[in-house]
Amino acid sequence: MTSHPRDEERRWWKEAVVYQIYPRSFKDSDGDGVGDIPGIIEKADYLADLGVDCIWLNPVYESPNADNGYDIADYRAIMDEFGTMDDWEQLRDELHKRDIKLIMDLVVNHTSDEHAWFLNSRASTDNEFREYYWWREGRDPEETDLDPEVYDTPDDVNEVPPNDWESFFGGPAWSYDEDSGEWYLHLFDRKQPDLNWENEAVRDEVFEMMEWWLQKGIDGFRMDVINLISKPEGLPDTDPENDIETIDRAVNGPNVHDYLGEMRERVLEPDFLSVGEMIGAPMPMETARQYVTPGPEGDGLSMIFHFEHVLVDRGDDALELTEWTLPDLKAIFDRWQDGLAEAGWNSLYFNNHDQPRQVSRYGNDSEYRRESAKLLATLLHTLRGTPYIYQGEELGMTNYPFESLDDFRDVATLNPIRSALEAGEIESFEAVKDRARAMSRDNARTPMQWDDSEYAGFTDPDSTPWIDVNPNKETINVEAERADQNSVWHYYRDLISLRKEHDVIVYGDYDPLTPGHESLWAYTRTLGDDSLLVVLNFSDDETQFESPEDLKGANAEILISNYEADVSDVADAVLRPWEARVYDLR
Ligand code: NOJ
Repeated sequence: MTSHPRDEERRWWKEAVVYQIYPRSFKDSDGDGVGDIPGIIEKADYLADLGVDCIWLNPVYESPNADNGYDIADYRAIMDEFGTMDDWEQLRDELHKRDIKLIMDLVVNHTSDEHAWFLNSRASTDNEFREYYWWREGRDPEETDLDPEVYDTPDDVNEVPPNDWESFFGGPAWSYDEDSGEWYLHLFDRKQPDLNWENEAVRDEVFEMMEWWLQKGIDGFRMDVINLISKPEGLPDTDPENDIETIDRAVNGPNVHDYLGEMRERVLEPDFLSVGEMIGAPMPMETARQYVTPGPEGDGLSMIFHFEHVLVDRGDDALELTEWTLPDLKAIFDRWQDGLAEAGWNSLYFNNHDQPRQVSRYGNDSEYRRESAKLLATLLHTLRGTPYIYQGEELGMTNYPFESLDDFRDVATLNPIRSALEAGEIESFEAVKDRARAMSRDNARTPMQWDDSEYAGFTDPDSTPWIDVNPNKETINVEAERADQNSVWHYYRDLISLRKEHDVIVYGDYDPLTPGHESLWAYTRTLGDDSLLVVLNFSDDETQFESPEDLKGANAEILISNYEADVSDVADAVLRPWEARVYDLR
């Protein structure tokens, strides 16, 4: 390392590149069509070759899979489909042997309705587990504006739920329980009841469980929708006239910082990677800072995943798609780069298991697939923060050409479309096909493309994968990418290794140069005497970059680019379609 970071603390998780594995779709070792832990172990060398420093493993716990493992029935057991605890321990060891850390998904806003706590809680109104969840009596429809017809209750029950909240997967956020005559809250699927964090016993259970995993040698947690754990006092209805929807009621609740503070004191250490998924946008920067400021002043999370940039093309409605512009996207990133420049740390991502493929969304997945995949990678790996790679991103994997509703598997896609069909709001799937195709989380969940064989090397040719393989595995696959020095894969590998050589990439200050430009995104990163200039052309056309006066004639060397480029003059460069250049200005 050539220079020293500003007086901020060095942390491994700031210097790391994290690789996310969605086990169901990564590699199937036993031919049942579902990826598994031994499959990941088979690919440990692959991960080491790519050069990543840490794996985030999506949930592998016992689960009935209403939401692919985000509905956990036992936090201390491994899902049968994925293997055994011995397999998991072997995976941990194989990763650690290769100097790769491992963080686990922590899903504690809700459990499965098949978790023992919920089964007990449901068994009677009078037991200690009842208070683990949000059970409430219903309301008389006459006293509300709600239509009792909408809710699933027996014919002789004329009630509506305790409030009008809607599930993020469509439909009401409350379900009626016939045995006790009460309703329970679930912000996601009805099989994902929300835990009641106000109950100290719940917090004890969660913290003990986290400690148990940390004792097993993991390196941190990715915390699922962690800003939902505190509910507002009295669970008030929404207020559409004032634009207050369920999400506004549910996020960043009154006690969230107390609960996270307690978690920090009881289980977290600054050296663990803790990344909190924080839904709802925009998020006040003050709130964000509190989440990521080290303790005792702040909640002490290493970083958060906010949603602003992945909502840039979304309308208000779950199925609405809008046009996004580069200035909008830059404004979002600039706000976060600036907002967390002094306190806290950013995460950098476009892709994960909930988002469509980045190259199909922000790039050009046909003519300039390779160039735009590399450009997006350049961006995420040269901003200030920790870059996350989602499996297949390093190949430039694209969205899937979904044709019918049967092609989808995801509740978050299926539930709202089925309800819209049932309610007669749409006549057929065709009415929402384009949007579902563009937005479905299943785009990210099609199997990893290892080679060009029948099921892309993901599973046995005699088996059937749980979700279809993208037909473009013929050309986009690990084998082909590794064989081609010019591939997206090699470019990712180069970016990852540059991060290890240049402190300025990790710790440098970020200064935007072209905030309002329709297609160029240029910025500098500076740390002491080290300085980088990044210029990205987000378009299918050649675009001229007019460099600021002080950079003209600067002694620049290209550090990495997605085109052949021996151009060292930064003055008035013309960038080719989706060209990305990183200059070392030293
Ligand atoms: C966010 C997760 O990333 C998503 O996959 C899941 O459906 C919800 N939280 C509910 O756990």
